[in-house]
Amino acid sequence: MVPAAVPPLLAAARREPTPYTPVWLMRQAGRFLPEYRALRARHGFLELCRNPQAAAEVTLQPVERLGVDAAILFADILLLAEPLGVGLEFARGEGPVIHRPLRTAADVARLGPIDVEAAVPFVFETARTVVRVLAGRVPLIGFAGAPFTVASYLVEGGASRDYARTKQFMYQEPDAWHRLMALLADATARYLNGQIAAGAAAVQLFDSWVGALSPADYRAFVLPHVSALIKAVTPQVPVIHFGTGTAALLPLMRQAGGDVIGLDWRVDLDEAWARLGHDVAVQGNLDPAVLLGPPALIRERAGDILRRAGGRPGHIFNLGHGVLPQTPVEHVRTLVDFVHEASARP
Ligand code: CP3
Repeated sequence: MVPAAVPPLLAAARREPTPYTPVWLMRQAGRFLPEYRALRARHGFLELCRNPQAAAEVTLQPVERLGVDAAILFADILLLAEPLGVGLEFARGEGPVIHRPLRTAADVARLGPIDVEAAVPFVFETARTVVRVLAGRVPLIGFAGAPFTVASYLVEGGASRDYARTKQFMYQEPDAWHRLMALLADATARYLNGQIAAGAAAVQLFDSWVGALSPADYRAFVLPHVSALIKAVTPQVPVIHFGTGTAALLPLMRQAGGDVIGLDWRVDLDEAWARLGHDVAVQGNLDPAVLLGPPALIRERAGDILRRAGGRPGHIFNLGHGVLPQTPVEHVRTLVDFVHEASARP
């Protein structure tokens, strides 16, 4: 394939016309590809992340296998939390665990700034390797966790249903909370800029769990930090700003920044886009569970999303969240092919 002058994904992020609607998938490497599972049978998750050769291989697997319009760097949003000395572990079948969570203002006062270059050189090396192998075929998307989502892991110690400890910390220790958020926002901007310097052509900020907050709390405790972070990202590089459960927060997320707002599947794309304003691009938003259904249903639901996008420039097709691990690979291929064919513009 000859690389397009402007890859469709980057054109869509800038709301320029594209020959078809570009598509990529979050958590694409995430355990649904047999070639990923084969590697994971032999290596720990963090071990793979720290090995640029292996991480580059995993990054490229979905591009080869699925024909998506971008590669997403194989890494994790919590890699940047590790240098804080909180004891990060990916326990088998449980997701991430933080062994020494931040529970008091004193815990936060002890944190020094994160030396990003020293902490995660392997991420930048992975990006350089991927970009070299891709040779312009599709762009590489870099990513990081947004400050709230990363802070929620640091405070809770792992996943949470109600984010009660995080909110308690926010309300009881607002100064320490803002210090933590500012520290994370600063390190995250440098982390994303390092990925961009290593060749990432766009970056996604994952605020996966920010939907736990009310609009008032988002405004007071999150928005200023995300806004500062996004302003500090290298100019001209599209930023995709994603969260889940964000129906009520979309206008505030837009205000915080980003060239593209990521929509989860709980909203109708046309209605959400109208609310955001058509002068910002959107990404989304098929329910990942639909990929567990039959191919005819996958095409019907994906077709509905394309209809709602209405052929307007500035739509990047994606799932409303990550691919579920039990998803059949052929179903994902069906989706990618369908989006390309159904959205082809003469
Ligand atoms: O899309 C990709 O595969 C790119 C790499 C990527 C990973 N994590 C690899 C991964 C990306 C973009 C992430 C982001 C990430 N990590 C987020 C934001 C995205 C989201 O899902 O909202 C979050 C919240 C995390 C933290 C994290 N890491 C969790 C909650 C888990 C457990 C996942 C689960 O469902 O059990 C991880 C582990 C992880 N990160 C895996 C992968 C491929 C699975 C590790 C394994 O092989 O067991």
